[in-house]
Amino acid sequence: MTQDSKPEPATEAKTWSGRFSVPIAESVKIYTASVPFDRRLAEFDIQGSLAHAQMLSEAGLLSPEDLAAIRQGMSTILEEVRQGAFPWNLDDEDVHLNIERRLTALAGDAGKRLHTARSRNDQVATDIRLYLRHEIDHLRSLLADVQEALLDLAEQHADTAMPGFTHLQVAQPVTFGHHMMAYVEMFGRDRERLADCRRRVNRLPLGAAALAGTSYPIRRERVAELLGFDALCLNSLDAVSDRDFAIEFCSAAALVMTHVSRLSEEFVLWMSPRFGFIRIGDAFCTGSSIMPQKRNPDVPELARGKTGRVNGHLVALLTLMKGQPLAYNKDNQEDKEPLFDTVDTLSGTLSVLAEMLRQITVNRDAMRRAALEGFSTATDLADYLVKKGMPFRDAHEVVARAVRLAEERSCDLSDLSLETLQGFSTLVAQDVFAVLTIEGSLASRDGVGGTAPDRVRSAVQAARLSLKR
Ligand code: ARG
Repeated sequence: MTQDSKPEPATEAKTWSGRFSVPIAESVKIYTASVPFDRRLAEFDIQGSLAHAQMLSEAGLLSPEDLAAIRQGMSTILEEVRQGAFPWNLDDEDVHLNIERRLTALAGDAGKRLHTARSRNDQVATDIRLYLRHEIDHLRSLLADVQEALLDLAEQHADTAMPGFTHLQVAQPVTFGHHMMAYVEMFGRDRERLADCRRRVNRLPLGAAALAGTSYPIRRERVAELLGFDALCLNSLDAVSDRDFAIEFCSAAALVMTHVSRLSEEFVLWMSPRFGFIRIGDAFCTGSSIMPQKRNPDVPELARGKTGRVNGHLVALLTLMKGQPLAYNKDNQEDKEPLFDTVDTLSGTLSVLAEMLRQITVNRDAMRRAALEGFSTATDLADYLVKKGMPFRDAHEVVARAVRLAEERSCDLSDLSLETLQGFSTLVAQDVFAVLTIEGSLASRDGVGGTAPDRVRSAVQAARLSLKR
C-alpha cells in the first residue's frame, strides 16, 4: 500500500496469528487497521525503537551484532519512509507491525529480537508522546510568529484611535495598537499552556510493556535519557492506557482556536463596508462568482469555522477515554485521527493567520470617525466632574443629559460650547476640552494595562522581550 493506493492482498500470516485457526476476516482487517493514518508516526516509532535497542544492548539483552543490524535496517526504513517508498501493507495492521516486518526482512532475526521487553501498548504511547512533543514545539513557534505580526501592527498603530466596544456599542476610545495587544496576551497564554502541557507529554511510557511492567532487567531511565524525556511514567497500567496528555493538548488547542476565532470575527466585521476599519490583502480575499463587487474574507471565516472542528476533537477524545477500564483498550487507537487533525488544523490556521496579519491595512480615518460617533468620551467628562468634586453618580446623571443634548444637535460632546457645558455644571471650565478629545481620553489611561499610546508602546517592548525568551 502506498500513499493513496488500495491495500495489497495478504502475503503472510499476521505477527500474532499463532493462536488462531482461521485467518482474520477481510472486513475485520480493514476495520481494525490503523496503518492508513498512524503511518504518520513512522519516524517517531523508529526513534523509539532505536533507543530501546540501544538500551537492550547496553543491558546485555541484545548482542552488538544485532544492534548494528537493527540500526542498519532502521536507517534503510527511515529513508524509504521519507522517500515515500516504504511498502506499507494493511496485513500488518499498524505502523509498528509494518516497520517490524520490514526490519525483519532487512535484518533477519535481529528484527525479531527488537520487541524484547516491549509491547505495542507502551510503544504506541511512546510514539504519540514523541510526535506530540515535536508538534507542540512547532505550534509554539507558529504562535510566536502570530504574536510578532500582531506586535508590529500594535507598534505601528500605538496611537491610532478607534472606538472600544462593549455589547458592540461604542464605549470608550482605545487605540488599535491596544486592541492588537489584547490578542498578543491571549496567544501568549496559549503558548504558556502548550509549554505546560508539554511537561506532562514529555514522560516515557516505554518499559510499562503490555500493562504490568517487564521481568527483563531493562533501564527505563536510559531510554528516557536517549529520547530526551524529562521523566518516566511511574505506573505501568497508567502509562499504557491514559491519553490525558492528548486531551490536555486538544483543550489548549481549542483555546488557541477560540482566540483565533474571536480575532477572525472582528476582522470580518471590520472589513465590512459598514465598519471599513481594515483591508485585508487581496491575496487573502476571494471574489464572488456572481456579484462582481464582492471581496469576501474567506480566510478569517474559515478559521472561525475550523474552531468548531477542533472543539469537536476535544469532545471526541474526552468521550473516547471516559468509559475505558484499565489498562490498554483498542478504543485508544481512535485517539490518533482527532489528534492529528487538531495539529494540522492549528498549524495551517496559525501559518496563514501570521501571513495575513502582515497584509492588513488600517483605515485610520474610518476608525477615528467611528470613535467620534458614539459619545465615546462621555466617561471622561464624568471623571472630569468627579475630579472637580462631584459624586460619581451625580456626574453620570449630568453627562447623560449633556449626551442627550448633543444627540439632539447631532454633534459630539466636544462640539458643545463652554457656555452650554457650564449650563450642566458650574464645575466645567475651559480645561474640559482636553479630556473631551479622543487624544486626551487616550493619553489619560496610562496605568498598567491601559490604552494610552505610551503605555501601548512600552507593552509592545515588554512583549518583544518575553517573546525572545
Ligand atoms: N495500533 C494500536 C493503537 O494505536 C497499537 C497498540 C496495539 N495494541 C494492542 N494490544 N492491540 O492503539
